[in-house]
Amino acid sequence: MSEPRGGWVSTLDWGVKQTFRSYVHGVGGAILARGGATRSGDGGFTFLAEEDSSLRRDADGTLVGLGRFRGEVTFEGHGGILAVRLADPIIEITPDAAVMSVAEDLERRRRIVIAHLDIGAAGWDDEGLVSVPAILTLEGSQLLGDHYPIRTPLDPLRLRVEA
Ligand code: HEM
Repeated sequence: MSEPRGGWVSTLDWGVKQTFRSYVHGVGGAILARGGATRSGDGGFTFLAEEDSSLRRDADGTLVGLGRFRGEVTFEGHGGILAVRLADPIIEITPDAAVMSVAEDLERRRRIVIAHLDIGAAGWDDEGLVSVPAILTLEGSQLLGDHYPIRTPLDPLRLRVEA
């Protein structure tokens, strides 16, 4: 699907990082999605856009606005030593940069920018979603236990655009 098509972004599909999910499964841990987030068919997660979310794709293919999504994903393992929470993602696009932040605590007081997004490289994927490459920030690396170097590719963000 390559035709330019504009519209509002209604959902965010994101798997965080496939090898991280496999690792947590592999150590007998638990991965839970709730509060507006659900597991998607490929093992990732689907977050619903909030009513005040303004992220949209213009007819020329440009992504603009502030994407606010709800839902929470938790990863637990090693008897509770591994406990990572990613909640209520926000996609922020400015002329200078595009980033995604997440809340990392139950009360949603602390947010970190987990990924830098390559909006210029966004394109349609096989399922008709807009796929946006994402790489890890320093804060994101710390959240995931300092195992991945900064700029490690994460799973791409996949956005459903409603005409
Ligand atoms: C008792 C505590 C822990 C033990 C024994 C442990 C053990 C391990 C081992 C052996 C690996 C290598 C697995 C492999 O190469 O297949 C690994 C990878 C990893 N661990 Fe842990 N870990 C612990 C805690 C944590 C915590 C607290 C976090 C995050 C907050 C974490 C995040 C990761 C990540 C992100 C990887 C890399 C997974 C990948 O993409 O391959 N670990 N851990």
